[in-house]
Amino acid sequence: FSAFLTDNHSRQHTYLRISITEKCNLRCTYCMPEEGVELSPPEHLLTTDEILKIAEVFVGQGVTKIRLTGGEPTVRKDIVQLVERLGRLKEKGLKELAMTSNGIALARKLPALVKGGLTHLNLSLDTLDPFKYQMMARRKGLEAVLKCIDTALALGVQPLKINSVVIRNVNDAEILDFVAMTKDKPVEVRFIEYMPFDGNRWNKEKMLSYQEMLERIQAEYPTFEKVKDHENDTSKTYRVPGFAGRIGFITSMTNHFCGTCNRLRITSDGNLKVCLFGNAEVSLRDLLRQPDITEDKLLETIGMAVKRKHKQHAGIGNLEHMKNRPMILIGDGMRKT
Ligand code: GTP
Ligand code: 5AD
Ligand code: SF4
Repeated sequence: FSAFLTDNHSRQHTYLRISITEKCNLRCTYCMPEEGVELSPPEHLLTTDEILKIAEVFVGQGVTKIRLTGGEPTVRKDIVQLVERLGRLKEKGLKELAMTSNGIALARKLPALVKGGLTHLNLSLDTLDPFKYQMMARRKGLEAVLKCIDTALALGVQPLKINSVVIRNVNDAEILDFVAMTKDKPVEVRFIEYMPFDGNRWNKEKMLSYQEMLERIQAEYPTFEKVKDHENDTSKTYRVPGFAGRIGFITSMTNHFCGTCNRLRITSDGNLKVCLFGNAEVSLRDLLRQPDITEDKLLETIGMAVKRKHKQHAGIGNLEHMKNRPMILIGDGMRKT
């Protein structure tokens, strides 16, 4: 495996997450402050050719999975074309081309995206109540997301994961409703421990731990059982025997999974970010825009950044006190400043 993508803790980075826009058509409270975030000037953002170039370099070094994130990836105007072009990297070793979307404006584009090579889809949905949806996302949209889930299933997109950030006294009463949703729908609902980012007003009391969520589900479904996870998964997977779908828990706060981390990120302004947490970033965009840039120089810079990756949580002892971009600007919803 590429020495450039192997860190000092022997982790091989085969998964690249590329944020393709800072914009979003929702305003989720846990992801961005009410006033929104300051967007980068357009010339700071990666062009489609630059995204392709970066993807190609990483695939050349052994990356087999690319996930497009945002902001909201469907907000990027040339999303279909971008996916088609990235899809061609399958001839060079790319195996999975994935996207994380809020599903608001996706359904219509989904057939073309799947045709273009999209293989995996994760949709964010935190509540099944239209009023609560509007409260959490500061916009309407539940119906569109539900429709998108059905469109994706009809197109045979599998696995189809649904990300649900659980916040106490906001949507935690709906955990069992989401479990019930997996009875007939072949989806994997993943409950995410609420994480702190700049401006999202996180506090410990608002977070439900993996343990607490698990206990609530087990009380209702005593046969709730663990199933085997894939190596490098962010989630711990369970199911109710007989149900079509599954349940996962993303336990970044109480049970980190840094030891098996295989991810690197590219922010939409072209920085390589080696860990979701922490501020260490290096600009690949600036390098790419140098007239005499060579692939060797790019790889040298990437390699040095990867070698500096900390063993866990970017070396931050207590995540509750960290500074980071708000999630929206990281490319998972969030980016820390
Ligand atoms: P898969 O590729 O399907 O495993 O999805 P994923 O979990 O990698 O990505 P997704 O975009 O669906 O993100 C779901 C949740 O996982 C979000 O809350 C992310 O912030 C969190 N997450 C994604 N990558 C990382 C990571 O590298 N570290 C931590 N701690 N959390 C992550
Ligand atoms: N804590 C946990 N998950 C978050 N996401 C966005 N902000 C947060 C947060 N503060 C999730 C979104 C999306 C995924 C990519 O990241 O809900 O599903
Ligand atoms: Fe948009 Fe996702 Fe952030 Fe919600 S969590 S505001 S859908 S980027």
